[in-house]
Amino acid sequence: MKLPLVSSLLLSPFDALQALTNNFLYAILAPTALFAPASTNKPAGAVNGQYLLGLGIADITGPVVETNLMGYASLGQTGTGLHMRQRVRAFIVAEPSSPADANAPSERILLLNADIAMGDTGVRRLLLAALSEEFGNSTYHKGNVALVGTHQHSGVGGYLENLLPQITALGLSRQSLDAIVDGCLLATRRAHASLAPGTLASGTGFVSSGSRNRSPTAYLANPAEERARYADAGGDEGDQEWGMALLRFGGGAADNAQEEAHDAERGFLSFFAVHGTSIYENNTLVSSDNKGMAAYLYEASEDPRAMPGNASYVAGFVQGAVGDTSPNTLGAFCESPGKPYNGLTCVANSSTCGGAAQQCHGRGPAFTSDPYGFTSNAVIGSRQADAARAILHGGGMKPVKGNVRSLHVYVDMSQHEFTLANGTTVRTCPAAMGFSFAGGTTDGPGAFDFVQGDNKTSQNPFWEVVKVFITPAPPPEQIACHYPKPILLNTGYAHEPYEWSPRTVDVQILKVGNFGAFILLCELTTMAGRRIREAVRAELISTGILGEEAHVVVAGPANTYGHYITTREEYEVQRYEGASTLYGPYTLEAYIAKYTDLVPFLADGHDGMPASDEPPAEQISKAISLQTSVKFDAAPIGKHFGQILKDVVTTVPYHAGDTVFAEFVGANPRNNLRLEGTYLSVDHLISGAWEAVRSDSHPSTIYRWTRESTILGTSTVNVSWTIESDAAHGTYRIRYFGDSKPLIGSISPFIGTSSNFTLA
Ligand SMILES: *[C@@H]1O[C@H](CO)[C@@H](O)[C@H](O)[C@H]1NC(C)=O
Ligand SMILES: *[C@@H]1O[C@H](CO)[C@@H](O)[C@H](O)[C@H]1NC(C)=O
Ligand SMILES: *[C@@H]1O[C@H](CO)[C@@H](O)[C@H](O)[C@H]1NC(C)=O
Ligand SMILES: *[C@@H]1O[C@H](CO)[C@@H](O)[C@H](O)[C@H]1NC(C)=O
Ligand SMILES: *[C@@H]1O[C@H](CO)[C@@H](O)[C@H](O)[C@H]1NC(C)=O
Ligand SMILES: *[C@@H]1O[C@H](CO)[C@@H](O)[C@H](O)[C@H]1NC(C)=O
Ligand SMILES: *[C@@H]1O[C@H](CO)[C@@H](O)[C@H](O)[C@H]1NC(C)=O
Ligand SMILES: *[C@@H]1O[C@H](CO)[C@@H](O)[C@H](O)[C@H]1NC(C)=O
Repeated sequence: MKLPLVSSLLLSPFDALQALTNNFLYAILAPTALFAPASTNKPAGAVNGQYLLGLGIADITGPVVETNLMGYASLGQTGTGLHMRQRVRAFIVAEPSSPADANAPSERILLLNADIAMGDTGVRRLLLAALSEEFGNSTYHKGNVALVGTHQHSGVGGYLENLLPQITALGLSRQSLDAIVDGCLLATRRAHASLAPGTLASGTGFVSSGSRNRSPTAYLANPAEERARYADAGGDEGDQEWGMALLRFGGGAADNAQEEAHDAERGFLSFFAVHGTSIYENNTLVSSDNKGMAAYLYEASEDPRAMPGNASYVAGFVQGAVGDTSPNTLGAFCESPGKPYNGLTCVANSSTCGGAAQQCHGRGPAFTSDPYGFTSNAVIGSRQADAARAILHGGGMKPVKGNVRSLHVYVDMSQHEFTLANGTTVRTCPAAMGFSFAGGTTDGPGAFDFVQGDNKTSQNPFWEVVKVFITPAPPPEQIACHYPKPILLNTGYAHEPYEWSPRTVDVQILKVGNFGAFILLCELTTMAGRRIREAVRAELISTGILGEEAHVVVAGPANTYGHYITTREEYEVQRYEGASTLYGPYTLEAYIAKYTDLVPFLADGHDGMPASDEPPAEQISKAISLQTSVKFDAAPIGKHFGQILKDVVTTVPYHAGDTVFAEFVGANPRNNLRLEGTYLSVDHLISGAWEAVRSDSHPSTIYRWTRESTILGTSTVNVSWTIESDAAHGTYRIRYFGDSKPLIGSISPFIGTSSNFTLA
């Protein structure tokens, strides 16, 4: 594809002035970057702030029923319908191609922010192969593509390639995996096709009461002097980070960056850490939790006429050092009916009620409004959307200039030896999960309790198949290596039927001009995130790669799911996060050492590539799946698919706040994911023609599927719409889009339509 030729490589007087005033350190960097492009085979870089920018969205929603949801690892949390579709948002920042050869590959990055619980090596491997095939090997590759999960806990599961996160999903769901890979490819294709000259600007803001620390007693184990430095960062005396960093994608030319960019604003990437656990573990509707909600709210406010996922504006809400953050900002309380401690706060250090973790639950800001957390989800989503809006409109945006770089290596963390700052050589350990892992968190307690050996195991057929492979007890050196973590699951020694936990992880940094760098990692706690961020930032500044004002952000869980990373002090406390720190007490130090070692390779003119370990072995071909395919669908005798079973009310009008619903003779939605489409519509009669005004992705609509009889193949679909206060009055109808599978023959679509109803 021929890209538009844009670059003017000379600084305008305006830019030079800006560089000196707004951007002191950039002025030091500029001479090298400008007059002596160090590496002749690279373009000179976007020194004047002109980039090629591309943005795109696509649908990644897998099977919304009969598939486990990913995040809480709860066997009972199996999909029964759809609240909001999961999306992936693609952001490309490229340096303008060299004027001499517009077809030469330019330095670029592709960040995919997906409404999934976490990035995964298998998804990434399939995606990179597909990207190579479509765009060639050097456009989007392992170095410059980051797959980041929003860490939401109500998306379709079964897509990860390691065995441990597959346990409650009953193995791999290929349909779920493919939906994510295909959607990431489609979003990239759209972003790539939209590449156009543009400018970037950065800013920061604050999400007030955006999160709460869910392991505050572990946080308190960090040194008091260190905690004091962050006392104003957010949460309780700095135990959270409420700061949001934002990168705006604008249109226009660099010469008039500020005015034009604002007129032609195309979207943004924002970085803020809060768990995607606003919607509770007992919900079974597929959704996108608070970051997906924030993105929907922002995009809808910019492009109100567009259907969700089809807006011309792309709002990226990227997850950060999420480890010990919770959106349940009211705190954790005992749900212990009949017990004296019912409704009281849980025991602080252990997050238990009467000795059990299962009854201790976090409460979101709108706890009393609904039993599944949807209202709290909207509150935490809008707090993030509002913070982003305040940054964009607050007048504090600064232009971003400078080159785009990326770096990636694989690191085998099973016995990674390295030297601590004090000169002592230490090593990481083969993966293992501690006992507190089974206890879960106040956002989702006790999910893995069944592995502790009682007869509850028989509820999970997948566990029955695989548990024999975990039997080798950890040898003494493994026990010593993980100390003081007591080992529950010795996953680093479990290689059959395939790897239980990743052994090799992705270590990746993306740099965008003087905005700074994205460190791509798994679930760091707040303090662990600060330590790696400060270390990498100091290295970037001391090597002259970035200036003092640079933002360095942690983004994740990205690429490989390596579970949690705590500080060594928090590890000693062994709460859930410490128990889930896979590679032992020195996990964080190992990552810090590796990331800071990589930094010099980001410098202009640095030759050579950092050493990398072998990529992790492919696993998907070995995957076990106990999910059975759809056998067939049938309508009850005398009825047909899509036939109304319970109609809307036609005798009296509906009003804002009411819920209108219709039930239909249904068929299994796994027959057709209707990606980029919808399972339902609310149609408004406008000038004699029906216009679809709501889809299955509007938070006000719900698609619910109920299996009536497996033997007869019958099912019912319930479509509902809770009418918003700003919905126009008039005549409406509800439609249901289904696909049925006969015993013999091919799947065919059908439509069910309700009666007309009035909104007054
Ligand atoms: C791209 O990479 C694939 C896989 O490594 C290789 O088979 C293929 O030859 C490469 N294509 C080009 C054009 O280099
Ligand atoms: C609870 O944790 C705090 C902070 O880590 C510690 O000071 C205290 O001793 C712990 N209490 C108990 C009962 O373990
Ligand atoms: C998406 O938006 C485009 C224009 O922006 C429009 O042509 C198209 O019909 C829309 N698709 C849906 C499904 O709303
Ligand atoms: C769902 O879980 C939340 C949080 O534990 C709880 O407060 C609520 O009562 C539960 N809802 C139902 C319907 O059980
Ligand atoms: C270096 O730090 C580690 C971890 O705190 C400690 O175990 C080791 O003894 C220290 N080494 C020296 C030489 O102080
Ligand atoms: C578990 O089941 C086995 C066999 O069904 C039985 O012998 C054993 O007593 C059970 N254990 C518990 C703790 O219920
Ligand atoms: C269908 O959904 C509506 C709205 O949520 C609810 O009131 C109704 O009970 C549901 N019907 C069934 C059969 O669950
Ligand atoms: C619903 O409204 C449409 C458009 O006015 C009309 O064609 C149709 O007959 C109505 N349906 C019913 C069942 O009244």
